[in-house]
Amino acid sequence: MHRTHTCGELRTNHIGTQVTLSGWVQRRTDFGALTFIDLRDRYGITQLSFNEEYNKELNEKARSLGREFVIKVHGEVIERSSKNDKIPTGHIEIKVTDFEILNASLTPPFTIEDDTDGGEEIRLKYRYLDLRRNAIQDKLILRSKLNKAVRDYLNNAGFIDVETPVLIKSTPEGARDFVVPSRMNEGQYYALPQSPQTFKQLLMVSGLDKYYQIVKCFRDEDFRADRQPEFTQIDCEMSFVEREDILSTFEGMIRDVFQSVKEIDLGQIPILTYDDAMKRFGSDKPDMRFGMELVDLDDVAKGNGFSVFDNAESIVAINVKGGNTYTRKELDAFTDWVKRPQIGALGLIYCRVNEDGSLKSSVDKFFDETKLKLWADQCTSEAGDLILVLSGKTDKVRKQMNELRLHVGELQGLRPKNKFAACWVVDFPLVEYDEESGKWHAMHHPFTSPIPADRDKMQTDPGAVKANAYDMAINGMEVGGGSIRIHDKQLQKRMFDLLGFTEEEAQEQFGFLMNAFEYGAPPHGGIAFGLDRLTAILAGTDSIRDVIAFPKNNMGRDIMIDAPAPLNADQKKELGM
Ligand code: AMO
Repeated sequence: MHRTHTCGELRTNHIGTQVTLSGWVQRRTDFGALTFIDLRDRYGITQLSFNEEYNKELNEKARSLGREFVIKVHGEVIERSSKNDKIPTGHIEIKVTDFEILNASLTPPFTIEDDTDGGEEIRLKYRYLDLRRNAIQDKLILRSKLNKAVRDYLNNAGFIDVETPVLIKSTPEGARDFVVPSRMNEGQYYALPQSPQTFKQLLMVSGLDKYYQIVKCFRDEDFRADRQPEFTQIDCEMSFVEREDILSTFEGMIRDVFQSVKEIDLGQIPILTYDDAMKRFGSDKPDMRFGMELVDLDDVAKGNGFSVFDNAESIVAINVKGGNTYTRKELDAFTDWVKRPQIGALGLIYCRVNEDGSLKSSVDKFFDETKLKLWADQCTSEAGDLILVLSGKTDKVRKQMNELRLHVGELQGLRPKNKFAACWVVDFPLVEYDEESGKWHAMHHPFTSPIPADRDKMQTDPGAVKANAYDMAINGMEVGGGSIRIHDKQLQKRMFDLLGFTEEEAQEQFGFLMNAFEYGAPPHGGIAFGLDRLTAILAGTDSIRDVIAFPKNNMGRDIMIDAPAPLNADQKKELGM
C-alpha cells in the first residue's frame, strides 16, 4: 500500500496512529543529528522527522534526499514541539520508522513552493513542475468545480450536451482562423472553429431545443492577458426564446455558479443599454464594483476661451472621492499616464475641491471659481474631492476616461479581487463602419438579428440599428456574449447585403446554414461564456494563463512541447505543400 492518508489529512486526533504517506520532498532541513522533511502532495504538506538517536542509519539516508524525490514513509503521528499555525497539519509530524525512495529527481530549475523563485518563461517550459505548486493546483481545482457547477445547472435545466466537429470551415467570429491542411484533398484546408456558432444554430433547426457544450475554440488573435489562441467556451443555444428568456436562464447559471463555487450571492444582475454603458462608463464592459461615473461637462465648460475645450466634441470628467490628497507630483503622473500611446490623450485637466470648499484648477486662467463651481455641481463634488477632465472626440475621450477611471479606481482600492459585480449590456449597434475597407461590419456576427423596431433602418441608416445582442461583464471583463438570431431567410439576405456579401459569397461561405433555414428554422438565440475568464475572475487573477493547465506564451507558443514547429520534408510532400 502506497499510503494510508494524504499529506493534508493528519491532525492532533491522529496522534499515536501508525501511518504510511507518499509524496514529494518539498524541503529538507538538516541539523545533522536531526532532519526534517516537508512532504507534499495535492492535499497538503506534512512534516517528517528523523532523529539520529532513534535510528542513525535512517537519519543518514534522509540527509541524502534531494528536492522533489518521491518517497514513501512509514511512522507514527506525534505532536510537534514547534507548531506551525499556517498549515492545517502544522500541529503534528511523522516520526519516521522506515522509508523507501520511489523515484529520484533532478534538482528542479525553480523552487516548487507557493512563492516560487522561477520566472514565467522557465515555469512555462517546465509547466509540469509548476503545476505541482498548490497555488496553481488550487486554480485547476476551482476550474473543475466551476465546470461541474455549469454542467449541473444546464443538465438540470434540460440542456443537452452535443459535441460539434473541430475540423470545419471558417466561422464568422471575426478573428483569423487556424487552418489544417488536408492530405486527402490536396491544396485544401480545414479551419478550426472560432466557435461552434453555425453548428449550434443547425442543432436548433434539428429540433434539439436546448444545447450546450463546454468546448475548445481557436482564434488567431494578438496576445492579451484575457486571450489565448485556444480557449474554452460554455456554448449554449435555445429555441423558441426571446432575449428575456436567455438573460434569465443565464443570469441563473452565473448566480448559481458563484453560489456553489464560492458561496457568493451575486444578487440581481443589472441591465444597461450599450449607449448608457458608453455614456456612464466609457466602456461596453463596465467595472460595476465602484461608481466614479463619467460626467458630461459640455454645457458648463465650453465657451470660455479655452480652445482645447471649445474645439472638443466632448468634455468628460470623473470625480475622485477624497482625491484632493493627491500631490502635484502624483497628478503629473496621471497626466503622463493618459498621454502614453496606449491611452493617447493630449493632456489632463484637474480641479481640486479644497477642504474649505474653494476650487483650484490647472486652467485657472480660463475658469474662475464661479465657473469651476459649475463643474463641481455637475460632478456632485464635495470638499476633499478631485475632478479629472479629458476632452476630444466623443468615442475616443470616453474610452480614455474609462481607462483613467479604472486606473484611479485601482489606486483607490475600489477594485478588490474578492468583490464581484456583474452586469448585462444590451442593444449593441448591429454594425460598425470600417473606414479602411469602406464596409459595414457585424459587431457580433452576421446571424445576429436587429431589434424588430429598427429593421426598417437597415438600408437607410445602418449605423443607428440596434442588435438583439447582449454581453455579460464581471468586474470590467467581458465574460459572455450572444444574441437572438435571424431565422428568416429574407432578413438574413438583407443582412448579408448590408455587410457587402454578394449572393455567391454568402452562398459559398454560409450556404449550408441558409439552406437549412429553408426547412423550418425555429426562432432561436444563445450565448457563449468564456470558461477561462470566469475561472480567472473567481480565482482573483488577471491572466487567464494562470487557470489553463498548459497555456501558450505571448507569441502563441507552447514552449514546453516547442510548438508550433516546422514539418519535415515527408510530411510536407504528403500534404502537397
Ligand atoms: P464571442 O466572440 O463574444 O461570442 O465569445 C464568447 C466569449 O468567449 C470568450 N472569449 C475568449 N476567451 C479567451 N480567449 C479568447 N481569445 C477569447 N475570445 C472570446 C469571452 C467571450 O465573451 N458564437 C458567439 C456566441 C454567441 O453568439 O452565442 C461567440 O463566440 O468570454
